Amino acid sequence: MPSSVITIDGPAASGKSTTAKAVAVRLGLAHLDSGSLYRCITLAALEQRSPIEGATLARLAEEKKIELHWTGEHYKPMLAGRDVSEEIRGAAVTRSVSDVAALPEVREWVNAAVRASAAQHPKGVVVDGRDIGTVVFPGAALKVFLVADSRERARRRVLQEGLATDEENLSRTSVELDSRDRADSSRIHSPLMPHPDAVQIDTTNLTFDEQVDRVVDLARESLQKKGS
Ligand code: DC
Repeated sequence: MPSSVITIDGPAASGKSTTAKAVAVRLGLAHLDSGSLYRCITLAALEQRSPIEGATLARLAEEKKIELHWTGEHYKPMLAGRDVSEEIRGAAVTRSVSDVAALPEVREWVNAAVRASAAQHPKGVVVDGRDIGTVVFPGAALKVFLVADSRERARRRVLQEGLATDEENLSRTSVELDSRDRADSSRIHSPLMPHPDAVQIDTTNLTFDEQVDRVVDLARESLQKKGS
């Protein structure tokens, strides 16, 4: 495990990735988005028309050399030597990724890849996902679990997609997010849940800067304690 690890877990659109990125910049660490590996494997499966089956997909991930490559500045999701940062955000990948993330062989493969990527960074990482504090880095200095009410998460996701925050977009997005959260929380393997030591932060009524400040303060405190 690298010297400094902060984990940020939580449901879809709770602000994990944007918060993790900003926190990493403030602390001089790197942001590592574990969900992007599940998305890379999903993209590979769709491109190859592969059956959604654990051992097959773990083998495909290996064959296609899926990785989060540390460029010296950030982690880049790579599939067969190609930067797939944009493609993995497409609607088809988003629709299928929860099914792929429910497979234990895929989870094992991703967990090993996350640990290997984190080890490439000289200082440390802020990793976001669903099971990072519970399974991947349970010994992390600070484990955060972000929550926000479903309506607010839908509003943020709609804005992020550049759409109007009208009733139709909000309801549709809210239904999509709820269905993904149900799938991620009810799966048998590593369901979405907070580690008992995680600090839970409800961001519904926080501004983005407030939520970043809160995590940075907690991280500084925890890293100091760990170093002393
Ligand atoms: O955070 P995201 O939307 O990019 O995550 C994509 C999917 O991967 C989502 O269904 C949850 C799953 N995931 C997971 O199960 N465990 C992680 N550590 C990260 C993501």
